[in-house]
Amino acid sequence: MNKKFNILILNGPNLNLLGTREKNTYGIKTLKELTNQLNEKALSLNINIHHYQSNAEHAIIDKIHESKEKINYIIINPAAFTHTSIAIRDAFLAVNIPFIEVHISNIYARENFRSNSWLSDISNGVITGFELDGYFWALETAVKRLSNSFNKT
Ligand code: DQA
Repeated sequence: MNKKFNILILNGPNLNLLGTREKNTYGIKTLKELTNQLNEKALSLNINIHHYQSNAEHAIIDKIHESKEKINYIIINPAAFTHTSIAIRDAFLAVNIPFIEVHISNIYARENFRSNSWLSDISNGVITGFELDGYFWALETAVKRLSNSFNKT
């Protein structure tokens, strides 16, 4: 029944290094392991899941543009672009796809510059500081919200 929903998991710069990068902050699981577990979760939720990671701002923007008409919901960890990218903000405003912002670490408990997000106020929610669990909770929430809005129409 939910198979109609297409959800994109979008990961920003340096997240390809999960599992080896600053393990005390980001843990020991690799992006591949996270992706596999999210795929399993998507199977149990009966939705289509898509994954994309890039270290390049323009590639992330292009992916958001391409998602128009194809993707119902985006879960994004914009990584360092969270704190710098008005261009990614504008891309979301342009395509009007609902999204949840996820951070593995608690961005409010780190350096001051990480407390600013160019995306939070236009997002449908932010999950920060719950390690990789945040991705799974965001996925559940996205499906719940899509189902609710689908049932209302
Ligand atoms: C991050 C937090 C960002 O400040 C940082 O630049 C990242 C990862 C997180 O998931 O905690 O690369 O988004």
